[in-house]
Amino acid sequence: MGLTRREFLAGIGAGASVSPAVTFGGKGAEGAVECFRVKPHLQLLEENGVAVVWMTGAKATGYVTWTQDDWNTKHTAWQEKDGLLDANSYVHKAVINGFDPHRRLDFRVHSRIFGSFGPYTVSYAGDEAIDSGMMNAILPGDGSISWAMFNDVHENLDIYDSLIGHLDGIASFCVFNGDIINHVDDEADVEQRLLAPFARVSQTAKLPVWYLRGNHETRGGFARNLRDYLALKDSRYYGAVTIGGVRFAFLDTGEDKQDGHREYSGLVAFDRYLEEQNAWLKRETMSAEWRNAHARIVIRHIPGPLTVPVRDWRHNLPRLYNMDMILKQANVTLCMCAHLHHWDWHAPTTARPYPMIVGGGPGLGNPRDHDNATLAKCRLCGKTLSVQLLNQAGRLLINKTLAI
Ligand SMILES: [Fe+2]
Ligand SMILES: [Fe+2]
Repeated sequence: MGLTRREFLAGIGAGASVSPAVTFGGKGAEGAVECFRVKPHLQLLEENGVAVVWMTGAKATGYVTWTQDDWNTKHTAWQEKDGLLDANSYVHKAVINGFDPHRRLDFRVHSRIFGSFGPYTVSYAGDEAIDSGMMNAILPGDGSISWAMFNDVHENLDIYDSLIGHLDGIASFCVFNGDIINHVDDEADVEQRLLAPFARVSQTAKLPVWYLRGNHETRGGFARNLRDYLALKDSRYYGAVTIGGVRFAFLDTGEDKQDGHREYSGLVAFDRYLEEQNAWLKRETMSAEWRNAHARIVIRHIPGPLTVPVRDWRHNLPRLYNMDMILKQANVTLCMCAHLHHWDWHAPTTARPYPMIVGGGPGLGNPRDHDNATLAKCRLCGKTLSVQLLNQAGRLLINKTLAI
């Protein structure tokens, strides 16, 4: 017999078990379907807003309970759209709003796989499964804001084995700055090469992640479905958020060649997309949130103008030039980029009157052009912003201190 939602919420007859990966009858080696196909993780939306995202092995429902006072006060969050609660789906995104970023947050994900989903009754294939997790205070007591950047992993999942170990001291969020997947062909790409690393990083470092597309994640037919697996602020790949008085602009630089390039088969329109985004960026950089922020950080996959230009890597795209022109007037504190697979610190120039750090990346094609994967770490405390870049061995490649 299926449970009513009231019974489900109350846990009646659920026989709830706490396990990192509870399985149910149906499929798999021992006739089981994994309830948590992708473990629950946190995607950042606001200083006081995150989405808990997970995937189930079969169509399921689920919700999140959370607390900031050791479960003395318990809140419940459901994914909800057009009056319907999350059900009959593989991807689950429950938004937690209004938490205190100065305190740690504990959460539990309650999920349950359907046996059948009829118009007037549903049945479940197994008991409720629970996975629990926590998030450290995004804004710790010492007044600091700290964030880190992965980029250009290109499906080399072993990169996480080493770089995750260097995340110590990062509390606010971690950004995945594009080219995490080589191309998006099917759900398995998204599940195993994007969401699973999000879960690994989020659960290990106990922080939320923010995802930005690189040019590679615009490739492949399933790139059109990628957004279904993400909790995007305002349903856009680009956006801005204020954390601890610091304004972050996350920009989607799109493809790296002209729309008419033969590789795209006439199926992209990034000129139009960036025109729209640049109009938004102009409004953003003129807003009070931007102008009055303690610091203004831009994160984008394809870099702005380099201090010393190397080959024709930007393909003279007017849409990127227009983005650079807006940022030139925007009193940017720091820009964080990727794409080149060649890490470096780029001092300010006339065209780009703010410093820019570019993360490294693994060898693709021409190994002489590429070095290796890196983790960028930033910490802003008072009037000092420290920017570090580490390689997989933990060697400090860049160590800068900026006065804000
Ligand atoms: Fe790349
Ligand atoms: Fe790239």
